[in-house]
Amino acid sequence: MTQTIVQFLPDQAATERLGELLATVLTRGDFVGLEGELGAGKTCVTRGILRALTGGTARVTSPTYTLLNEYDGPDHMPVVVHADLYRLHDEDDLESTGYWDAVADADLLIVEWIDQVTAAWPETGWRIQLQHVEAGRSVTVSWVGEGAPERTKALSGLLEEG
Ligand SMILES: Nc1ncnc2c1ncn2[C@@H]1O[C@H](COP(=O)(O)OP(=O)(O)OP(=O)(O)O)[C@@H](O)[C@H]1O
Ligand SMILES: [Mg+2]
Repeated sequence: MTQTIVQFLPDQAATERLGELLATVLTRGDFVGLEGELGAGKTCVTRGILRALTGGTARVTSPTYTLLNEYDGPDHMPVVVHADLYRLHDEDDLESTGYWDAVADADLLIVEWIDQVTAAWPETGWRIQLQHVEAGRSVTVSWVGEGAPERTKALSGLLEEG
Protein backbone atom coordinates (compact mmCIF):
# COMPACT_ATOMS: atom_id res chain seq x y z
CA MET A 1 0.00 0.00 0.00
CA THR A 2 1.79 3.11 -1.26
CA GLN A 3 1.10 6.27 0.67
CA THR A 4 4.16 8.24 -0.28
CA ILE A 5 5.02 8.45 -3.94
CA VAL A 6 8.56 9.31 -4.98
CA GLN A 7 9.45 9.93 -8.59
CA PHE A 8 12.33 11.30 -10.65
CA LEU A 9 11.32 14.03 -13.09
CA PRO A 10 13.98 14.28 -15.83
CA ASP A 11 12.76 17.51 -17.41
CA GLN A 12 10.21 20.31 -17.24
CA ALA A 13 7.70 18.33 -19.30
CA ALA A 14 7.77 15.55 -16.68
CA THR A 15 7.10 18.08 -13.90
CA GLU A 16 4.12 19.48 -15.80
CA ARG A 17 2.90 15.97 -16.56
CA LEU A 18 2.91 15.16 -12.84
CA GLY A 19 0.59 18.13 -12.35
CA GLU A 20 -1.67 16.91 -15.15
CA LEU A 21 -1.94 13.46 -13.60
CA LEU A 22 -2.53 14.90 -10.14
CA ALA A 23 -5.36 17.02 -11.60
CA THR A 24 -7.24 13.88 -12.60
CA VAL A 25 -7.50 12.69 -8.97
CA LEU A 26 -8.34 16.06 -7.39
CA THR A 27 -11.79 16.62 -5.94
CA ARG A 28 -13.65 19.76 -4.97
CA GLY A 29 -12.24 21.37 -1.84
CA ASP A 30 -8.78 19.85 -2.24
CA PHE A 31 -5.66 21.65 -1.10
CA VAL A 32 -2.30 21.26 -2.84
CA GLY A 33 0.75 22.45 -0.86
CA LEU A 34 3.96 22.81 -2.89
CA GLU A 35 7.36 22.78 -1.20
CA GLY A 36 10.83 23.19 -2.65
CA GLU A 37 13.57 25.76 -3.01
CA LEU A 38 13.71 28.52 -5.63
CA GLY A 39 13.25 27.07 -9.07
CA ALA A 40 12.31 23.60 -7.83
CA GLY A 41 9.37 23.33 -10.20
CA LYS A 42 6.37 24.39 -8.07
CA THR A 43 4.90 26.60 -10.78
CA CYS A 44 5.44 23.90 -13.41
CA VAL A 45 3.33 21.47 -11.35
CA THR A 46 0.64 24.15 -11.00
CA ARG A 47 0.76 24.79 -14.75
CA GLY A 48 0.19 21.09 -15.39
CA ILE A 49 -2.76 21.00 -13.00
CA LEU A 50 -4.35 24.02 -14.67
CA ARG A 51 -3.63 22.75 -18.14
CA ALA A 52 -5.55 19.58 -17.34
CA LEU A 53 -8.40 21.45 -15.67
CA THR A 54 -8.82 24.28 -18.17
CA GLY A 55 -7.84 22.57 -21.38
CA GLY A 56 -4.63 24.56 -21.66
CA THR A 57 -6.10 28.03 -21.79
CA ALA A 58 -4.64 29.45 -18.55
CA ARG A 59 -1.29 31.25 -18.50
CA VAL A 60 0.28 30.39 -15.15
CA THR A 61 3.06 32.33 -13.42
CA SER A 62 4.16 32.47 -9.76
CA PRO A 63 1.97 35.03 -7.94
CA THR A 64 5.01 36.05 -5.87
CA TYR A 65 4.02 39.72 -5.67
CA THR A 66 0.27 39.50 -6.05
CA LEU A 67 0.02 36.70 -3.40
CA LEU A 68 -2.57 34.89 -5.46
CA ASN A 69 -4.19 34.44 -8.84
CA GLU A 70 -7.64 33.10 -9.51
CA TYR A 71 -8.56 30.90 -12.49
CA ASP A 72 -11.84 29.66 -13.91
CA GLY A 73 -11.83 25.91 -13.31
CA PRO A 74 -14.08 23.16 -14.64
CA ASP A 75 -17.70 22.73 -13.52
CA HIS A 76 -16.77 20.44 -10.64
CA MET A 77 -14.35 23.04 -9.21
CA PRO A 78 -15.15 26.44 -10.73
CA VAL A 79 -12.86 28.60 -8.59
CA VAL A 80 -9.19 27.64 -8.64
CA VAL A 81 -6.83 29.78 -6.54
CA HIS A 82 -3.04 29.67 -6.93
CA ALA A 83 -1.18 31.35 -4.07
CA ASP A 84 2.51 31.93 -3.38
CA LEU A 85 3.61 32.47 0.23
CA TYR A 86 7.25 33.26 -0.60
CA ARG A 87 7.02 36.80 0.76
CA LEU A 88 5.07 35.82 3.88
CA HIS A 89 6.71 34.78 7.11
CA ASP A 90 4.18 33.79 9.73
CA GLU A 91 0.58 33.29 10.68
CA ASP A 92 0.03 37.04 11.28
CA ASP A 93 0.95 37.69 7.65
CA LEU A 94 -1.93 35.47 6.57
CA GLU A 95 -4.31 37.79 8.42
CA SER A 96 -2.74 41.11 7.41
CA THR A 97 -2.58 40.24 3.71
CA GLY A 98 -6.20 39.10 3.64
CA TYR A 99 -5.12 35.59 2.65
CA TRP A 100 -7.95 33.79 4.45
CA ASP A 101 -10.68 35.93 2.86
CA ALA A 102 -9.09 35.57 -0.54
CA VAL A 103 -8.99 31.77 -0.43
CA ALA A 104 -12.34 31.25 1.32
CA ASP A 105 -14.25 30.60 -1.91
CA ALA A 106 -11.65 28.39 -3.56
CA ASP A 107 -12.87 25.02 -4.82
CA LEU A 108 -9.25 24.08 -5.38
CA LEU A 109 -6.41 25.84 -3.58
CA ILE A 110 -2.83 25.41 -4.78
CA VAL A 111 -0.13 27.04 -2.61
CA GLU A 112 3.56 27.47 -3.44
CA TRP A 113 6.01 27.88 -0.53
CA ILE A 114 3.57 26.30 1.92
CA ASP A 115 6.60 25.39 4.08
CA GLN A 116 7.18 29.14 4.56
CA VAL A 117 3.93 29.50 6.55
CA THR A 118 2.81 26.09 7.75
CA ALA A 119 -0.18 27.68 9.53
CA ALA A 120 -1.75 27.90 6.07
CA TRP A 121 -2.11 24.09 5.99
CA PRO A 122 -5.68 22.84 6.32
CA GLU A 123 -6.34 19.51 8.05
CA THR A 124 -5.96 17.51 4.88
CA GLY A 125 -4.25 18.02 1.57
CA TRP A 126 -1.71 16.97 -1.02
CA ARG A 127 1.88 17.63 -0.02
CA ILE A 128 4.15 17.95 -3.04
CA GLN A 129 7.86 18.24 -2.22
CA LEU A 130 10.27 19.04 -5.05
CA GLN A 131 14.04 18.81 -4.98
CA HIS A 132 16.83 19.46 -7.44
CA VAL A 133 18.49 16.14 -8.34
CA GLU A 134 21.29 16.30 -10.86
CA ALA A 135 19.86 18.02 -13.96
CA GLY A 136 16.27 17.11 -13.05
CA ARG A 137 14.02 17.05 -10.04
CA SER A 138 12.74 14.52 -7.54
CA VAL A 139 9.16 14.76 -6.33
CA THR A 140 7.60 13.28 -3.21
CA VAL A 141 3.81 13.22 -3.15
CA SER A 142 1.85 12.43 -0.03
CA TRP A 143 -1.59 13.06 1.44
CA VAL A 144 -1.62 14.81 4.78
CA GLY A 145 -4.43 13.73 7.10
CA GLU A 146 -6.90 10.87 7.14
CA GLY A 147 -7.57 8.76 4.09
CA ALA A 148 -4.04 8.78 2.66
CA PRO A 149 -4.13 5.22 1.23
CA GLU A 150 -7.37 5.90 -0.63
CA ARG A 151 -6.30 9.29 -1.97
CA THR A 152 -2.81 8.28 -3.13
CA LYS A 153 -3.70 4.89 -4.64
CA ALA A 154 -5.14 6.14 -7.94
CA LEU A 155 -2.31 8.58 -8.52
CA SER A 156 0.35 6.00 -7.87
CA GLY A 157 -1.33 3.73 -10.42
CA LEU A 158 -1.37 6.51 -13.00
CA LEU A 159 2.31 7.30 -12.42
CA GLU A 160 3.26 3.64 -12.80
CA GLU A 161 1.50 3.55 -16.16
CA GLY A 162 3.61 6.58 -17.13
N1 LIG B 1 12.13 18.10 -13.85
C1 LIG B 1 12.81 19.18 -14.24
N2 LIG B 1 14.06 19.06 -14.72
C2 LIG B 1 14.75 20.16 -15.09
N3 LIG B 1 14.29 21.42 -15.03
C3 LIG B 1 13.05 21.59 -14.57
C4 LIG B 1 12.25 20.49 -14.16
N4 LIG B 1 11.06 20.97 -13.73
C5 LIG B 1 11.11 22.29 -13.86
N5 LIG B 1 12.30 22.69 -14.36
C6 LIG B 1 12.76 24.06 -14.61
O1 LIG B 1 12.88 24.75 -13.39
C7 LIG B 1 12.67 26.13 -13.58
C8 LIG B 1 11.86 26.67 -12.45
O2 LIG B 1 10.58 26.09 -12.46
P1 LIG B 1 9.39 26.76 -11.66
O3 LIG B 1 9.23 28.18 -12.04
O4 LIG B 1 8.23 25.86 -11.79
O5 LIG B 1 9.97 26.69 -10.16
P2 LIG B 1 9.34 27.27 -8.83
O6 LIG B 1 9.60 26.23 -7.79
O7 LIG B 1 7.94 27.68 -9.05
O8 LIG B 1 10.25 28.53 -8.56
P3 LIG B 1 9.97 29.80 -7.59
O9 LIG B 1 10.38 29.36 -6.23
O10 LIG B 1 10.84 30.86 -8.14
O11 LIG B 1 8.50 30.13 -7.68
C9 LIG B 1 12.00 26.28 -14.94
O12 LIG B 1 12.90 26.95 -15.78
C10 LIG B 1 11.76 24.87 -15.43
O13 LIG B 1 12.05 24.74 -16.79
MG1 LIG C 1 6.94 29.42 -8.66
